[in-house]
Amino acid sequence: MKEKRVGFATRIGAIAATVGSAVGLGNIWRFPYQAGYNGGGAYILVYLLCIVLLGIPIMMSEFIIGRSTHKNMKGAVEQLTPGSPFKIFSYIGVLGALLICGYYSVVCGWVIEYLWNSACGSLLEHAPEEFSNIFGTFIASPDCCVMWTIIFLTLNFLVLSRGIQKGVERMANIMMPLLFALLIVFCVNSLMLPGSTKGVDFLFSINFDKLGWEGVVDAMGQAFMSLSLGVTCLITYSSYFKDDSNLMKDAVTISSLDTLVAILAGIVIFPAVFSFGLDPKAGPDLIFITLPTIFQQMPGGTIWAVLFFVLLFFASITSTISLSEIPITFMVDEYKLSRPKAIILTAVQMGIIAVLSALSFSTLSDVTIFGKNIFNFLDFVGPNFFMLLGGLVTAVYVGWILKKDVIHNQLTNGGMHRSRFVQPYIIFCLRYIAPVAIVIIFLYYTGVI
Ligand code: PFF
Repeated sequence: MKEKRVGFATRIGAIAATVGSAVGLGNIWRFPYQAGYNGGGAYILVYLLCIVLLGIPIMMSEFIIGRSTHKNMKGAVEQLTPGSPFKIFSYIGVLGALLICGYYSVVCGWVIEYLWNSACGSLLEHAPEEFSNIFGTFIASPDCCVMWTIIFLTLNFLVLSRGIQKGVERMANIMMPLLFALLIVFCVNSLMLPGSTKGVDFLFSINFDKLGWEGVVDAMGQAFMSLSLGVTCLITYSSYFKDDSNLMKDAVTISSLDTLVAILAGIVIFPAVFSFGLDPKAGPDLIFITLPTIFQQMPGGTIWAVLFFVLLFFASITSTISLSEIPITFMVDEYKLSRPKAIILTAVQMGIIAVLSALSFSTLSDVTIFGKNIFNFLDFVGPNFFMLLGGLVTAVYVGWILKKDVIHNQLTNGGMHRSRFVQPYIIFCLRYIAPVAIVIIFLYYTGVI
C-alpha cells in the first residue's frame, strides 16, 4: 500500500526547517572566516549582491519545482516536462548531498567533541598556545574522529526517523529561535569587549583593494553553500510545503534570516578576535583554535564555550537533517521504499563516506584525489562543483524550459498574490544573470580564466 506523503504541519514549521537547513557551519564558521580573509566589507557587499541576484531567484526556482508537484526533482521534472532529460540531474543532486553530508558530518563530530570537552571542563584548562596542538592531535586521532562522527550521524538519523512533522519540523521549531537568542547574547557580549570597535570596522569597512577576483568567486560559492542551493535540498523541502504558502515571501524571509545569522556570527567573532589580538585570517582554525582562547579569557568561560558549541551543534544538525532528507525522499518517492528502509540505506551510505572523510587526517592521509585528501576533496567538489552545477541546471530549467503559467501559478498561488515585478525579475535573473555568473565561476576554477 502506498504510504501517505506527510508534509510540514505549519507555515512557521516549514520556514523554521528551511532556515535550519540554510543556517549551519556555512554561516557560523565559513562566512566570518571568508569575510575576514577577503577584506571584510567589500566581500559582504558582493555576497549580498549574490544573494539578491542569484540566491533568491534560484531558491524560488527550487521552490516552484518542489511545491508545484510535491515530488523530489526526478518525479517533479517527469510530471512538469514529460520526457525531459533534466531529470538526470536529480541523481547528481542526491550524490552531491551524500558527499557533502559525508564530510560535513566530520566537522559536526569535531563540534560535539569540543562541546563534550568544554562541558567536562577539560578544554579550557590548557594554556592558549596549546589549542593549536590539541586540535591537530584530535583530527589526527582516527578513533576519536570516527567515534564523534558516528555519534553525530546517529543523532541525525534518530531525528529523521521521527518523520517530517515530529522530527524535522519539531526540532527546527525549538532550535532555530534558540539559536537566534544565543547569537544575540554572544553579539552583545563581543561588542562589550574592550577594543571591539576594531573588529566591527574590519568587518564593515569597504575596501575593494583587499577583495580581488578570487574574493568575488568565494562570495558566490558561499551564497550557494549558505542558502543550501543546487543539490535539490530546497526542492525536497518545498515538496512538503502547503499549497497556500507564499513562495515569494518565504524565499525572502529565509534568505534574510540566513544572511542575518551570517552577519551576526561575524559580529560575534571579529570584535573578540581583535579585542584579544588574534589573527582574523586564522581560517578554518578560527573556531576550534582561536575561540577557546577567547572563552578562556572571558569570565564564566566554560559556560560560554558550552553555549557556543551547543549553538554550533544546533546549526549543524538542522543542516545535515536537510541534506539527509534528499536521498531519503528520493528513495521513498522513486523506489517506493518505506521511510525506515530509506533512512537505513542513507545512513549506511553516508556513514561510509563520513568514516572515510574522518580518517583523512590520519589513517588515510596518504590517499589523495587531485592532490587533496578525501575530506578536502569533498569540501572542494561539493560546493564548487555539485552545488554550482545544480544551481545552473535549476536556473536554466525554470528560466528557459518550464511553462510560464506554472511559474506564475506558483508565485501567485493561482492568482491570489500579485507578482508584477517579482516574476519578470526572477525570470531575468534565472535566464541571464545566474547562468553567466556560474559559467564564469566554472571557467575560473578550471583555470580557463
Ligand atoms: N546551508 C548549510 C550551511 O550553510 O552550513 C549547508 C547545506 C545544507 C548545504 C543543506 C546544502 C544543503 F542541501
